[in-house]
Amino acid sequence: MDPFVYRSQAVRVVFGDGTLDRLGEEVDLLSIRRALVLTTAGHEAQGRALADRLKDRFAGVFPGAVMHTPLAVTEQALRFASEVKADGVIALGGGSTIGLGKAIGVRTGLPQIAIPTTYAGSEMTPILGETADGVKTTRSDPAIAPKTVIYDVALTLSLPPRLVAVSGLNAMAHAVEALYARDRNPVISLMAEEAIRAMATALPAVVSGPSDREARANALYGAWLCGLCLGSVGVALHHKLCHVLGGAFNLPHAETHAIVLPHALRYNAGAVPDAINRMTRIFAGRDPADSLYDLGRQMQIPASLREIGMPQDGIARAVDLTFANPYWNPRPLERGAIEALIAHAWAGEPPGN
Ligand SMILES: [Fe+2]
Repeated sequence: MDPFVYRSQAVRVVFGDGTLDRLGEEVDLLSIRRALVLTTAGHEAQGRALADRLKDRFAGVFPGAVMHTPLAVTEQALRFASEVKADGVIALGGGSTIGLGKAIGVRTGLPQIAIPTTYAGSEMTPILGETADGVKTTRSDPAIAPKTVIYDVALTLSLPPRLVAVSGLNAMAHAVEALYARDRNPVISLMAEEAIRAMATALPAVVSGPSDREARANALYGAWLCGLCLGSVGVALHHKLCHVLGGAFNLPHAETHAIVLPHALRYNAGAVPDAINRMTRIFAGRDPADSLYDLGRQMQIPASLREIGMPQDGIARAVDLTFANPYWNPRPLERGAIEALIAHAWAGEPPGN
C-alpha cells in the first residue's frame, strides 16, 4: 500500500427528500438566532420563503449573489449582514450563492448553512475563488467550508434534464480525477468510486425520466460525493485542459468538462491502472473512457467542442497554452498526444489512443 495523508472534514450533512423541513432544527444546532439568507436575484422569492421556516430567526434576504464572487458584492452583503445583525448565514442556491456565503463566513466567522440546488459541489469544499478588478484569486482554508449542508432532493426536481446531464458529468470529473490525484488516499477513492457508480446510473435515469424521484435522489447523492472528492484531493490534466479551453474560447463550463472527460481519461489510462480497474468494474467490464463517451451520447449532450463554439484553429493555441503553464498529471504531457486529444474532443470523435 502507498503511504497517504487523509484529513476528515468537520461538516454535518443532512440528506433526503424534504429535508428543508429540518432547517429550523439545523439553525438551532448552530445557535443561530438571526439568519441572513443569500440567493441570486432570480431566487429571491425562494429565499424569502425560508422566513416561514425560520420564524423569528429570519434576519433578511440578500439576493445579490453573482458568478465569480466579486469583492464589491461581498462588501455589500457584509454591510447588510451587520445592518440586520446577522449571526449566521444560509446560502440557498448553486456555486455563486455558496461562494458568497463562504466569502462572508471567512471574513466574519459566522457559521454557514449551505442548501445546494445544483450539482456544482462547492458546498463540500474549503475553497473560495473571488474576483477583484477582474483578477481572480483562490484560497483554501478549513474555515471557509460551511458547517452544515442540507441536501434536499425536492429542490433539484426542477433542474432540467439537459442541465442534469452536463452538470452531472462536470461533477463526475472530480471523482474521476480523485481516483488518480497526486494526493489521492484510500478513503476518498472509495467515495470517488461510489460517486461515479451513482452518477453513471442516476444521470441517464433522470434524463429519461425527469420525474423519477429515486433517480433524482441518487444523482444528488452522487453529486455530494463528487463534491467531497473535490474538497479533499487535487485534480489533474482534465481540469487543466478545461480551464485553458474555457478561458481561451469562452466556452460554457459544464459542457466543456462533460465533453473533455472521456478524452482526458483515455490519455491517462495507461498511467493509472488502479483508477481504470475501479471504473471498469463500475462499467461492467467495458472500457471506462468509451463508457463515459457513450454516456454523453446516450444523454444527447454535445459531443464536440466545435458544437459549443471552439474554432478549429484554436486547437494549436490550446496546446500552446497547456504547455505554457504545465500542471501535475500522472502521465507526463506529450505534445503530439495532447494535440490529438484536443483534436478528438473538438471533432466529437470517440476517445483515441
Ligand atoms: Fe471542476
